Amino acid sequence: MTYPDELAQAKKVTLPCAEITDFPRFAYRGTHLDVSRHFFDVDFVKKYIDVLAMYKINKFHWHLTDDHGWRIQIDKYPELTRIGAWRPERDQWDTLHPVQPDEPMTYGGFYTKDQIREVIEYAAIRHIDIIPEIEIPGHCSAILAAYPQFACDDYPYTVAVGPYWPPKAIMCAGNNDVITFYKDVLTEVAELFPYPYIHIGGDEAFNDNWQVCPKCQQRIADKHLKNEFELQQWLMNIMEKHLSQLHKKAIIWDDIVSKDMVNMSTILCWQSFDVAKIAAKHGNDVIMCPTSHCYYNFYQGDKKTEPLCMEGEVTLEKAYSFDPMPKGLSGKDAKHILGAQCNLWTEFINTPKQAEYMLLPRLCALSECVWTPAEQKDWKNFSNRVEFHQRMLKKLGYNCRDKK
Ligand code: ACM
Ligand code: ZN
Repeated sequence: MTYPDELAQAKKVTLPCAEITDFPRFAYRGTHLDVSRHFFDVDFVKKYIDVLAMYKINKFHWHLTDDHGWRIQIDKYPELTRIGAWRPERDQWDTLHPVQPDEPMTYGGFYTKDQIREVIEYAAIRHIDIIPEIEIPGHCSAILAAYPQFACDDYPYTVAVGPYWPPKAIMCAGNNDVITFYKDVLTEVAELFPYPYIHIGGDEAFNDNWQVCPKCQQRIADKHLKNEFELQQWLMNIMEKHLSQLHKKAIIWDDIVSKDMVNMSTILCWQSFDVAKIAAKHGNDVIMCPTSHCYYNFYQGDKKTEPLCMEGEVTLEKAYSFDPMPKGLSGKDAKHILGAQCNLWTEFINTPKQAEYMLLPRLCALSECVWTPAEQKDWKNFSNRVEFHQRMLKKLGYNCRDKK
């Protein structure tokens, strides 16, 4: 291993005898990686896990399915990876241009179950639990490309290309085969991953198709639901119960939160601190990752000089200023805030080098936000210390951004 200059040049390093008492502010200290929009191989995932371990992050949220590719072997549904894991290779991957009928589907990839076991073991040695995510019921173009019978309509879905996706893509909640499909997939996922939590998505499930689908409308009537929003809560509830039978617990994005909520899953809160408060007061556990501070796919600095990113800005200072505890929560409600994570969505991140650039050094900031008591945080002090980490990370072979 290569150490930073200061250590590499030192002939002898002396440490005083000391007793260290340390403990983290939050139990859940996570980092996410989207491997659907662009696929990242096992070697890179391990390198990513290495740097999480270095900064005492203990949860890795592996976003395995989305419109741009299905990335996990599922034995019962082989078309998911035969068709759903591949899209055309494009020089101009960052523009919208539909898949053409004659385009070779050569860009993408997936993890076999053996590879996933290898990554789970690699992470476990480094004290990191892996939370796999299977998106339900939206962000499903890759599924619908492989199994078009699961859609409400007969639109010719393909694995999505370009940075965005057809927002109407949603699985038909009125089709019993869809329920069976998700249960089967979750059963295989639960067998593979040892950690008790599985993320079942739930975000950005645009329900235009449900509004006009006779099967979905019939389901709403049969189950005495008020509307399509309740239909989604009902569907997520079925999956929560299925996971519970498998001795697993669900994590769901905060889109399903409402005042009269039926879901008792842990909520991954990306939209606002206010939504987190509603969920915590309802009695749900909550993990914080608000876009305002935790979306590391956003610009880190001036758009004119930074590589193309998802619109939005989270500077290092902003990332450091994050307090995962929503203001105004106390007592038993505050105990529901388990911790926080940063998210690395990869619509605009197409290489390992770029993923590292977006993560580092903001990960150093996240680590302090979940470890250090709020009153002890000090931006000036951090800002001086981070320079050492920037040099060290580069020496270790990471493409760390060197500005602040
Ligand atoms: C999300 O950013 N759609 C969770
Ligand atoms: Zn439908």
